[in-house]
Amino acid sequence: MNKPLSPSFITSAADAESSAQLRRSVRGFTSQPVADALLLDCLQEARRAPSGANLQPGYFWQVAGARREQLSSRLQQAYAAGAQEAEDYGYFPNPLPLSLRKRQVAAAQALYGALGVERGDAAGRGAQFGRNFRFFDAPVALIISIDSGFGPGGYMDLGMAIYGLMLAAQSRGLATCAIGAMASYPGLIRDVLVLPATQTVVCGMALGYEDTGAAVNQTLTARAEIDAYFKRLD
Ligand SMILES: Cc1cc2nc3c(=O)[nH]c(=O)nc-3n(C[C@H](O)[C@H](O)[C@H](O)COP(=O)(O)O)c2cc1C
Repeated sequence: MNKPLSPSFITSAADAESSAQLRRSVRGFTSQPVADALLLDCLQEARRAPSGANLQPGYFWQVAGARREQLSSRLQQAYAAGAQEAEDYGYFPNPLPLSLRKRQVAAAQALYGALGVERGDAAGRGAQFGRNFRFFDAPVALIISIDSGFGPGGYMDLGMAIYGLMLAAQSRGLATCAIGAMASYPGLIRDVLVLPATQTVVCGMALGYEDTGAAVNQTLTARAEIDAYFKRLD
């Protein structure tokens, strides 16, 4: 098994105790292909995730070759044209409470700061956002869907498998980024992938070998302090 790549900002071995600590979203990849067997291995490990009644909801669709080109080209056109589709599911609270809005702004600052894109640079931000729809040029492009009958519990189960895939990839020297932006165009994606209307498009994922020289991969996000989400109630 390949050793996990160490991000440049983790300097001591004590900091890098587990895949979960090493994992971060990577948005710049080398062109090195990912062996099919390695991808399948990661997916099988990911599907060891627990799920309610072991229903194992969700599907991972690898989009490759001409179909990937068609998908990315249509997504980029739709994004450039400002096309809007009804989304299959709601993700964020609307309106976003201020405490969450602050986290969103901090994440955006981390990303655009790494790229040197100023806050007011709409074109620079748009260009980076558009890269979502090319799966950040990663060698592996995935669309992740779920049967539309599932409620939040099914999404929770699928989320564990998605994280499992991130960690399985991480531990094999690969890197990933989930792409929720895909959920803005569920009809377009179903059309290109020839999926039935009963498949809800949850997100995409880029997977491959990190381009350690890419500025975007210097993005480093923080987390809320523990007392913001954990309380002991006696
Ligand atoms: C379900 C999901 C969807 C995401 N969608 C996007 C996306 O569309 N584009 C993007 O650049 N990052 C996306 N991300 C990455 C988040 O921005 C990232 O996980 C967060 O800022 C924390 O940073 P880290 O993953 O590097 O720890 C997504 C993450 C998750 C879990």
